[in-house]
Amino acid sequence: MSDALASKAMETNPLKQFPPARILGVETSCDETAAAIVENGRIILTSTVASQVDLHAQFGGVFPEVASRQHIRTIFPIVETALQQSHLELDDLDAIAVTRGPGLPGSLVVGMNMAKGLALGSGLPLIGINHLEAHIFSAWLHWPPVVNGAAGNVELKPAPHFPLIILIVSGGHTELVLMEDFLRYQRLGATLDDAAGEAFDKVARMIGLGYPGGPAIQIAADGGNPRAFAFPRAWLEDTWNFSFSGLKTAVLREVRRLQEQQQPLPIADLAASFQEAVVEVLTGKTLRAAEAFGAAEILVAGGVSANRALRAAVYAQSSIPVNIPPIDLCTDNAAMVAAAGYYRFVHGQRDSLAIDVQPNWPLTEV
Ligand code: KG4
Ligand code: ZN
Repeated sequence: MSDALASKAMETNPLKQFPPARILGVETSCDETAAAIVENGRIILTSTVASQVDLHAQFGGVFPEVASRQHIRTIFPIVETALQQSHLELDDLDAIAVTRGPGLPGSLVVGMNMAKGLALGSGLPLIGINHLEAHIFSAWLHWPPVVNGAAGNVELKPAPHFPLIILIVSGGHTELVLMEDFLRYQRLGATLDDAAGEAFDKVARMIGLGYPGGPAIQIAADGGNPRAFAFPRAWLEDTWNFSFSGLKTAVLREVRRLQEQQQPLPIADLAASFQEAVVEVLTGKTLRAAEAFGAAEILVAGGVSANRALRAAVYAQSSIPVNIPPIDLCTDNAAMVAAAGYYRFVHGQRDSLAIDVQPNWPLTEV
């Protein structure tokens, strides 16, 4: 569909029922190589994620050069798989959306170059996407994916309502954002030190759990007492910021104390008490922001939004509707990139093939 037609359809439709389009999404910002095709920003026709977790587990975290080299090996087969599984050709698509940043530079360039090659070869427009915006649009996606072209029969849940208070919690970011309309973001606050996911990963390492730490802590916490240790909560009153370094240091101090006394580490209790401290602050500040800004709904997105305790706390404590993507869409995937790509596409974004990756790209400058 032409730009002029797309904007005409939007102008004349007060409900913002945007024109139809199919977008291929490509994601390589960290340690997941992913490709997906999404219809109308909401229906996943195919989504493939190749995780490098096993490769990085031996280093206890993501090793950037290993990540980019693995993306190089995986990106082509992953995109081919996405096209084959959907029974679609590039000609059936309307645009190619790719994560432009933030993320690891050497990883981002692999997806970017793949997307540029596809755009050049097919003549389809290229759309660079902010990874944090992609996490947000994961909440618009229908789950599970729809196979074999039955998209027309899908009963979609209502899309999130603006104004939204959004908590983005991932391995690299923890931000509170007010979204008043499509593509309009106001950053209210962010972490001053570690991201929530980073704190999960570091504490997991301290107490001898593997990488990635978030899922490992969640499992260990299931058998523990969340009140066993009174770890600190940094409320940073009068701001919408977060801090997790004091909590991380408190866990480290406790671990060292127990080790000096040659006591076995109560891993389940440490994990449960740490998780409770993180969840309490994330939930408390998000709910307060929702009230302060008159939000219609709360949205939680990013890898840490897969955390069961966090999900349960936000759902239980919020008096307004809560939208948290299904677990499969919380961690990095390309369906969310294609979804964000759709909303950028219908708002007219087309990028040059000369765009560079932006490893430190803030959401508010998209
Ligand atoms: O969004 P994501 O996949 O990648 C980034 O953009 O960073 O987030 C990864 C982060 C990791 O720190 C991981 O430990 C955390 O999300 N994570 C979790 C859970 N699943 C993944 N944290 C807590 N509980 C979980 N269930
Ligand atoms: Zn992410």
